[in-house]
Amino acid sequence: MKPIIKRIALGASIVLLVAQFFQPDRTMPPIDPANDMLEMTNAPADIRQLVVGACYDCHSDKPVYPWYSYVTPVNFWLQDHINEGRETVNFSRWDLFAGDEEASEAGEKIAEGEMPLESYVWIHSEADFTDEQRARLVAWFDANTAARSGEGEHDRRETREH
Ligand code: HEC
Repeated sequence: MKPIIKRIALGASIVLLVAQFFQPDRTMPPIDPANDMLEMTNAPADIRQLVVGACYDCHSDKPVYPWYSYVTPVNFWLQDHINEGRETVNFSRWDLFAGDEEASEAGEKIAEGEMPLESYVWIHSEADFTDEQRARLVAWFDANTAARSGEGEHDRRETREH
């Protein structure tokens, strides 16, 4: 290698190395399992597995952080998704989000392929649903996440699928 290229490579390595010391704030609030959507709706086991595997990393207070989530700059990009996802719909705080307009769109978002986010599905094969899994999730979310203001809300809640 030419000396100038060596120097650039060395400089870039040092910048990347130092960048690793900068990490996003990953603090999560304490969890009360009683406020979890899957508990509050008494969700069946297959739904729990699918939802925790495909949604909880961005929509709960207990995301699982893989090793690459500690690598700058990937870490900041991932944490942004987590913070934005939790602010929009937090399944760990179903006491607050149940009946929420945006939460009630979960079934629709899954049906349209908008959730989980595409970039997440590339890396997480468990979030790459089969047609059958997708249909099961859409039906479950539609039955369990009625909007608070919607008509017939109480009827839908009382007949919710377990
Ligand atoms: C990689 C992170 C990530 C994953 C995984 C993920 N989401 Fe999201 N979700 C987001 C972000 C960020 C937003 C807010 C911005 C947006 O709407 O795109 C969001 C928004 C939403 C909304 C509100 C949509 C709206 O516009 O009103 C719903 C409902 C939702 N997600 C449901 C789900 C469900 C259900 C799953 C699992 C099947 C899931 N998400 C998986 C990051 C994620």
